[in-house]
Amino acid sequence: MAATGSAGMAGLGLAAVRKQLSQTLEVTALRLPVRLCNKFRMALADYSLVLPRTRVIIDDDQSVTGRRFPSPQPGEDDSDESAAGKTKLLLLAPEIDLTLAQLPEAARALVAEHKLERVPWKVVKGYELMTVQEVLDQVLPEGLVRQSAFSTIGHIAHMNLRTEVLPYKKLIGDVILDKNTHLRTVVNKVDTIDNTYRNFAMEVIAGEPNTVATVRESGCTFTFDFAKVYWNSRLATEHERLVSVFSPSDVIADMFAGVGPFALPAAKMGATVYANDLNPASAEALAANAKANHVDKKIHVSNADGRDFIRDLIARRVPFTQVAMNLPAIAPEFLDVFIHAFPRDAYPVLPRVHCYCFSTAADTSADVLARVTGVLTSAPLDYSISVVRSVAPHKDMMRISFSLPPDTVYAPAIADTSATRKRPAADLDDEAAGESSPAKKAKGLGGADA
Ligand SMILES: C[S@@+](CC[C@H](N)C(=O)[O-])C[C@H]1O[C@@H](n2cnc3c(N)ncnc32)[C@H](O)[C@@H]1O
Repeated sequence: MAATGSAGMAGLGLAAVRKQLSQTLEVTALRLPVRLCNKFRMALADYSLVLPRTRVIIDDDQSVTGRRFPSPQPGEDDSDESAAGKTKLLLLAPEIDLTLAQLPEAARALVAEHKLERVPWKVVKGYELMTVQEVLDQVLPEGLVRQSAFSTIGHIAHMNLRTEVLPYKKLIGDVILDKNTHLRTVVNKVDTIDNTYRNFAMEVIAGEPNTVATVRESGCTFTFDFAKVYWNSRLATEHERLVSVFSPSDVIADMFAGVGPFALPAAKMGATVYANDLNPASAEALAANAKANHVDKKIHVSNADGRDFIRDLIARRVPFTQVAMNLPAIAPEFLDVFIHAFPRDAYPVLPRVHCYCFSTAADTSADVLARVTGVLTSAPLDYSISVVRSVAPHKDMMRISFSLPPDTVYAPAIADTSATRKRPAADLDDEAAGESSPAKKAKGLGGADA
């Protein structure tokens, strides 16, 4: 049945919209003797009106005390004699009209058996009973896409508003806050995520101008400025999945660590973690989160380029056993840092690498394998490839986990002077200087290194 409401309110503020907005739902009601209420409430549960704070069986103004409806049938509740002859109204769902044609045959037969009267009824549904989407349907001009979808990070709702609804962003944000009392800030992302640090440029459109969020994931608490760093709640399952592969004896190198969604739970589980991010705001938040979660003794935080970070670990002969590389747009390119990088004596066992990437290929697994093999110049060993999540139609985020191939990642033997001499001066410096070159670049930021 039809819904009618007010229009032309787009220019109003929240207070005026709350006051003016009402929607009238035209529904079908069944007039029921009181003794049949429970029976029909259950029989028609799937076809009744569902509205928050609205009862489905209501008083009937035309109820006549003393008039008996058809005599009680066996099994019917007739214990309340005072109710005999009184009627109530059972409100049906808006899509069911007076013919009851939308009800299943058995339900129609039950209504006919008890000779129930059908009554057209109007339910006034004010602002309080409306969803955000329903409010926007009433408020935004005809023809505009109603954008009410948002994701949350702590107290922040974040949206991607289309250009045409931007004139209404304040009202949209205010309605979202009004209807979701656990939220305090609404932001609109004003840019894509294609910058180096993978954070969003955003504008606060309603509520407190506070983008520092606190969230829980994998048993840890993370606090960070969402306007400055990367965070994606949709990766929670993948974070847990990868950490479950690690063991307490592992030494983990997290090359693109963000604010620590792999690093913190891994350290909490007992592993030693070297966590790095190029974004100073991420590295700072990671160090602070490590402290707040009491795992700062297990996490060494650095703020460097991913390749420099790995070179530094190898130069210091840190015995890392696992590498996490979650920078899916370009992570496979960074695999070149492993080529001829490991001194065999310090790394008798090579680390296992977990590298993320996007794929739009028809055969995503073949695509990922070919790209990784291309950069490593040799096939990865003992690999497994999985789809992490679909990020767009025909675009998947993938993970390939593998052991590094010894033939291309071990450094040439020291005795092989001709090979050593052929290497570029910068590389020689790095290796010979140990701590002094890349280690100098990788700025320690508290945690176990501090
Ligand atoms: C997609 S985020 C992943 C963060 C975190 N691992 C997670 O799963 O949420 C990629 C991170 O890599 C960092 N980053 C980008 N380029 C980098 C580089 N060359 N070296 C190190 N970190 C880099 C970004 O600042 C960002 O925090």
